[in-house]
Amino acid sequence: MSEDKRQQLLEKRQKIELGGGLKRIETQHAKGKLTARERLYLLFDEGTFVEMDAFVRARHSDGRKYQAESVVTGYGQIYGRIVYAHSQDFTITGGSLGEMHSAKICSAMDAAAKIGAPIVGLNDSGGARIQEAVDALNGYGNIFYKHASYSGVIPQITAILGPCAGGAVYSPALTDFIFMVDGTSQMFITGPQVIKTVTGEEISAEDLGGAMLHNSISGNAHFYMPSEQECINSIRELLQYLPPNNLARAPRFEVSGDINARVEALNDIVPVNPNKAYDMMEIIYQLVDDQTFIPYMDFYACNILTGFCRINGASVGIVANQPNVMAGCLDMNASDKAARFIRTCDAFNIPLLTLVDVPGFLPGTSQEHNGIIRHGAKMLYAFSEATVPKVSIIVRKAYGGAYIAMCSKSLGADLVFAWPSAEVAVMGPEGAVNIVYKHEIAEAEDKEAVRAKLLSEYRLKFGSPYQAAERGYIDDVIEPAITRLRIIDAFNMLEGKSQQHPRKKHCNLPL
Ligand code: HXC
Repeated sequence: MSEDKRQQLLEKRQKIELGGGLKRIETQHAKGKLTARERLYLLFDEGTFVEMDAFVRARHSDGRKYQAESVVTGYGQIYGRIVYAHSQDFTITGGSLGEMHSAKICSAMDAAAKIGAPIVGLNDSGGARIQEAVDALNGYGNIFYKHASYSGVIPQITAILGPCAGGAVYSPALTDFIFMVDGTSQMFITGPQVIKTVTGEEISAEDLGGAMLHNSISGNAHFYMPSEQECINSIRELLQYLPPNNLARAPRFEVSGDINARVEALNDIVPVNPNKAYDMMEIIYQLVDDQTFIPYMDFYACNILTGFCRINGASVGIVANQPNVMAGCLDMNASDKAARFIRTCDAFNIPLLTLVDVPGFLPGTSQEHNGIIRHGAKMLYAFSEATVPKVSIIVRKAYGGAYIAMCSKSLGADLVFAWPSAEVAVMGPEGAVNIVYKHEIAEAEDKEAVRAKLLSEYRLKFGSPYQAAERGYIDDVIEPAITRLRIIDAFNMLEGKSQQHPRKKHCNLPL
């Protein structure tokens, strides 16, 4: 090879790696943002990133050269495992997406699916490249199609690290996990300017579609991150809980300490007074390895907790009522959050642990009129459909439809354990006594005394786990202190579980 040709290659590569040039890189840094390449170097284990399609160029250009088509794609290793990624370069035409930019992303997705590796998208873009018109729209369509096609096949993760506007938001929305960063990420279908023109409403971009908004109110995002560095690091950590694809298992880790040890603290967390709230996180931390729990949608529908942990070194998804928020009632948002999480775990072979303390579905016209029936049905469907090992622990209340919805035996739980504090009933004692003994109470001279007597009789009869255990709806009533070792034993026993539903084209989940 001649020295000229070698030099030519080096120069071309240098230009590509400079993206939109030093000035635009400085502007990017001044906004507190990293460049597309800096992000990839942080994402992958040092020295492992391999770029693909660096020389790809737009076919119809406006005379300018868009280095690497404003998106860097390739693969590398994260904790030693292969992962693909695409990272939009805002320094080149605002990271806007044209025909070949889309083709590069699609090519990375195809390659990831072919070898069964996760794919991470780092989005920072002004959306469809205006100059490429319908070719840009077609490019987005191709990406959406591939997201749907590979959904449930390989984990798809998106980090929003800049603007994401218009139909472009449907790319992240079709992936399994969306990360957003405080202050720099924004997602909206129509921006503040358009809203002002159409409705007259004035709102800032941050209030309209910022990281906290989507994490706490819309429920569109799953992880809220204080900085880009923490965001990228958290993506690396999340991948440690996931398998590379739907045919594999998540990696297993060494466990320190005695896995058969009793956890005495668990005996004292649930208050004696059944109407007193407590923090379900206290129970979770005692059950999981190394007190480590990765919350999923931590700021949304906080009446239900969802997240990843390891138990005996293996990845487990936890779904738990949170008595500290709305008494742990299930409402529309909690049902949606849980259903999505359950399906994500099931798609990627992650066993489910359900912790139950639920007084029911939230009553009220707002819930009824806005479709609690439809939303609640998603959760019932998701648990019924899930074929991964499912273990449920009834900690305290398990009332009515919500008892069923929290992965009861009838929805396919493989093992259900209850603590002695469990109360399994159609509804809480007050409501039940007022309905069943309406006439007795109305006719009694001392109504309060009669009601109190009936309440205590009801509590004795239904306010315990034993009636459900007599019928086999609960497999065992256990002392809280031995819960962790029983869960470990249960998941070990269920290791080889294999369950098939009747053949179908696809399910018809209520949406
Ligand atoms: C072409 C674009 C572009 C776009 C930005 N640029 N967006 N070029 N197509 N969509 C270019 C700018 O011209 C500029 O080029 C450079 O990127 C940086 O942009 P600035 O505006 O200088 O940056 P900033 O002030 O930070 O503002 C960023 C921005 C703004 C908020 C993203 O650029 C913006 O509002 N862009 C348009 C966003 C939009 O409406 N997109 C279409 C959404 S609809 P120079 O050469 O001057 O540096 C959509 C449909 C998808 O995406 C449909 C899918 C089905």
